[in-house]
Amino acid sequence: MKERLIFFIGVVVAVTIVLLAAGCSATSNVAANRSGAQLWGENCVRCHNAPTPATLSDWEWEVAVSHMRLRANLTELESEKIVEFLKSVN
Ligand code: HEC
Repeated sequence: MKERLIFFIGVVVAVTIVLLAAGCSATSNVAANRSGAQLWGENCVRCHNAPTPATLSDWEWEVAVSHMRLRANLTELESEKIVEFLKSVN
């Protein structure tokens, strides 16, 4: 009986580790596989219409996206990609 319990706990721990590892790689792939344009289209329309890139200059985009990064809960990589995209087409 005790052995079965220990086996059961072992299985639960192993499954949890596999799920955590899968979850971490899934989130890091999301930003890595997406272009700045995609991230912009997906994130910057959630609360308001996405302002067209031409609205702001390079340094103004840096300020605006660092501000929106907190609101949109973006990672550093995601916000960098979005700023690069906006600067390349403004
Ligand atoms: C969670 C909601 C939310 C998301 C997501 C969001 N914004 Fe905003 N945004 C706001 C709000 C609210 C304002 C009004 C000004 C303020 O209170 O910050 C705003 C204002 C702005 C402004 C006006 C200038 C400024 O800095 O206040 C710009 C430009 C802007 N957002 C760009 C973006 C871009 C680019 C993204 C994608 C990276 C984005 N926003 C994502 C909520 C959001």
